[in-house]
Amino acid sequence: MHKICILLLIYSIAWSQQRSLDARIDSVLSKMTLDEKIGQLNQYSGGFFTGVNKNRLSGSYEQLIREGKVGSLLNVFGSEQTRKMQRIAVEQSRAKIPLIFGLDVIHGCKTTFPVPLAEASTWDTAAVALSARWQAIEASSAGIHWTFGPMVDIARDPRWGRIVEGSGEDPYLGSLMAAARVRGYQGGDLAANNTIVACAKHFAGYGGAEGGRDYNTVDMSERTFREVYLKPFKSAVDAGAGTLMASFNEIGGVPSSANHQLLTRILRDEWKFDGFVVSDWNSVGELIPHGAAKDLAQAAELGINAGVDMDMESDAYIASLKNLVNSGKVSQNTIDESVRRILRIKFRLGLFEDPYKYCDAAREKAQTRSKEIISAARMIAGKSIVLLKNDGEILPLKKSIGTVAIIGPLANSKRDPLGAWAQQGDSGDVVTVVEGVRQKLSAAQVLYEQGCGITDSSKNGFAAAVAVAKKADVVLLVLGESLAMSGEAYSRSRLDLPGVQEELAEAVCAAGKPVIVILMNGRPLAVPWIVEHSNALIEAWFLGVQSGNAVADVLFGSVNPSGKLPVTFPRSVGQIPLYYNNKNTGRPGDPRNHYTSAYFDLENTPLFPFGFGLSYSKFEYSHLTLNVSSMTMDGSLTASVDVRNSGTRAGEEVVQFYIRDLVGSVTRPVKELKGFSKVALRPGETKKVEFVIMPEHLKFYTLDMTYAIEPGEFMLFAGGNSRDVLEVPFTVTQ
Ligand code: GLC
Repeated sequence: MHKICILLLIYSIAWSQQRSLDARIDSVLSKMTLDEKIGQLNQYSGGFFTGVNKNRLSGSYEQLIREGKVGSLLNVFGSEQTRKMQRIAVEQSRAKIPLIFGLDVIHGCKTTFPVPLAEASTWDTAAVALSARWQAIEASSAGIHWTFGPMVDIARDPRWGRIVEGSGEDPYLGSLMAAARVRGYQGGDLAANNTIVACAKHFAGYGGAEGGRDYNTVDMSERTFREVYLKPFKSAVDAGAGTLMASFNEIGGVPSSANHQLLTRILRDEWKFDGFVVSDWNSVGELIPHGAAKDLAQAAELGINAGVDMDMESDAYIASLKNLVNSGKVSQNTIDESVRRILRIKFRLGLFEDPYKYCDAAREKAQTRSKEIISAARMIAGKSIVLLKNDGEILPLKKSIGTVAIIGPLANSKRDPLGAWAQQGDSGDVVTVVEGVRQKLSAAQVLYEQGCGITDSSKNGFAAAVAVAKKADVVLLVLGESLAMSGEAYSRSRLDLPGVQEELAEAVCAAGKPVIVILMNGRPLAVPWIVEHSNALIEAWFLGVQSGNAVADVLFGSVNPSGKLPVTFPRSVGQIPLYYNNKNTGRPGDPRNHYTSAYFDLENTPLFPFGFGLSYSKFEYSHLTLNVSSMTMDGSLTASVDVRNSGTRAGEEVVQFYIRDLVGSVTRPVKELKGFSKVALRPGETKKVEFVIMPEHLKFYTLDMTYAIEPGEFMLFAGGNSRDVLEVPFTVTQ
């Protein structure tokens, strides 16, 4: 009884708070003119443009703000700049409604953290949430209220440049990362001055672009759309994300910014989302080239009626909505509802109480590049590194190693480790691999040659590179992509090392010294020659400002690598799409049988499977057992597996659990990640890791599209990646 009273009290407090907030919103709304309401739905880029399709350099919007024609600005940065623009809105306009300032804080604001795909490799939601928390602390101190993140698009095609901004190919991992980032950005209270509103993007299906070409057509079954691409968005909404961003792409012929089924029926009616939706840059205006709208007025009508509340940079709403309301094509209520959603977020941010609470120059100075945020960046960068090969346990290196030759176009790059969307990141803050290694060793021990460029064809540096390799005891070969080869509008038709880097590797390996390759890239790369001929291979992604220190920490063993791949690495671009949770087909690839699903010139297996990553420890799996061999459709069962560290170093292992539904009313993937635990093990220690299988883990969109569990035979898998697993069958009964 006591508990019920407490719950009722909590509910009634929350309900009364909501009522009072709604009352305050309605009070503001009732005093606004239609023009001012439409102004709240209009967003401009105030400082520089980050979007596409518009070659309009953003000008000054002071007068438009004074006239109440702007509700939000993006790309205005710094407590001074935001204070200046906010003052115009709250002191010089009639309605005096505060602006909300948005910025792409995708993996850091001034202090650049590892790119999101790297952070996903940690499989550590606490670390990822902490990273987002620090990013929010720094961004909010610079006047930012709202980040256009997390980007939660599932990507199964590494040719798509924006794979770097997300959490990879799996909906379960992607959902956990989405929620972690939302919680990190928004904290426990949006009214605090060190929290910012999240924006799950790009809603939805953007990563399914045909050919991996950015902005391209997306066409998939509703089942795949819901089971794979929508899952992380639902997770972000359930975690309380205050906003979503509508994506550029069409889905099955309907562009997201005109998609009522997506933006209203699913997002609001099914998911009960009460925040607001912002368009992507000019995505309302792009309904015209999509062929969904004949002109900007029709684009505005489609966008607002579908559920896009705020129009980023297309001028469609500010130019057309008043006429559309007067002509009855858009109802006053639709406008009011969109304004309410935006005002609700501004109230929750505390902007009506104190519009200048985020514009504190002293706090900005104290929080920007603080030593705490730098050490947080180094911590998560170390966790993001994935060890892919370590022949003869050549790693970790000893500081008594003798001479180290560091070679490659990314070895001493100050800019590329920032990665895509580094926003306000400063290449001057980057610690390169050469600098990081030099901090571990004496200067005399380290030789460096660039060897070649990232993309150019000159081999003039090869001789000098080979010369230092010959003088060295070990070679660190740092290869990969430039930061401008992934991210928005940077789709690649190839997945190999650009330029002459592989030829550099051949020349350096021919010198006959042990070669450790460190990859810096924003997507999976198809590098079979490198895998075969290196002694060790590290996936370092783009790790941000602490890149070189984190790589050196791993190379010399102060950090034992624990990362796991959140994406499949193919052997060739010709295998794309290649992902672990694929269907079996009626003729699964079998090298012994020609008439099966395979290429005759390449095996089906990936270069590295989803979930793969080595450690300086050795982890062995045994005794995968179930407490019972069957469960009812509303029951559960507990799996447990022993994991032993048979190595000589303490380390962390991501123990992964996958299931397969052997027979369903529709075909089911051969594996689906349904749980994982990151466990720390001392040398010789064994831990029993448990995983409770619940009905929620087994539900899917059945033949008639109901989301349900079906009885039948299942398989449970457990292991350190999606390929090398133990398995045990179980049954689900009515
Ligand atoms: C860009 C991107 C989007 C970003 C927005 C504002 O075009 O698609 O992710 O948040 O514009 O910069």
